[in-house]
Amino acid sequence: MGLPMTRHQISISYSSYATENELPAGSLSLLKTALENMNNAYAPYSHFQVSAAIRLSNGEVVTGSNQENAAYPSGMCAERSAIYYAGARFPHDKIEEILVVARREGESELVPACPCGSCRQAMLEYEERQSSPIRLVFKQNDAGFIGLDSVSDSLPFKFGAESLGTI
Ligand code: THU
Repeated sequence: MGLPMTRHQISISYSSYATENELPAGSLSLLKTALENMNNAYAPYSHFQVSAAIRLSNGEVVTGSNQENAAYPSGMCAERSAIYYAGARFPHDKIEEILVVARREGESELVPACPCGSCRQAMLEYEERQSSPIRLVFKQNDAGFIGLDSVSDSLPFKFGAESLGTI
């Protein structure tokens, strides 16, 4: 006889900001940069533009945008293009925060866009690598934003390096 089935609950906490004006100064600054970068999205297939801005501990701000491909799965999300760029250019500087925004091509209004599971997994790798949390901010609904203190909070069940058991 096995043990009886048990139900569990996971809770995470996050901040909500009713408008962009409520965002802390660091996030507001990333928002402006991400908006300026939005036109760099290459999204001729989905017509959905996504832009991400990252602040590093050395003060550098790097951006990324979605880059699509005629062979659809070969395309890349904004968050991963940004975080891989940060890792490629500044491997020894910590990533403090990543902010993500999205809109439909031709429209100025932002739409809610939570980073996809693959991007959360990719961001988690960098958070674990640097042993300090990466704040994650994205659009919730209407004017509002959500801020998580840590990428880890966005992925309560994780596959990380320790799962491999090799390090
Ligand atoms: N996309 C992102 O850039 N980030 C996400 O987290 C979700 C989706 C992009 C991929 C594709 O170019 C377009 O949005 C539609 O899925």
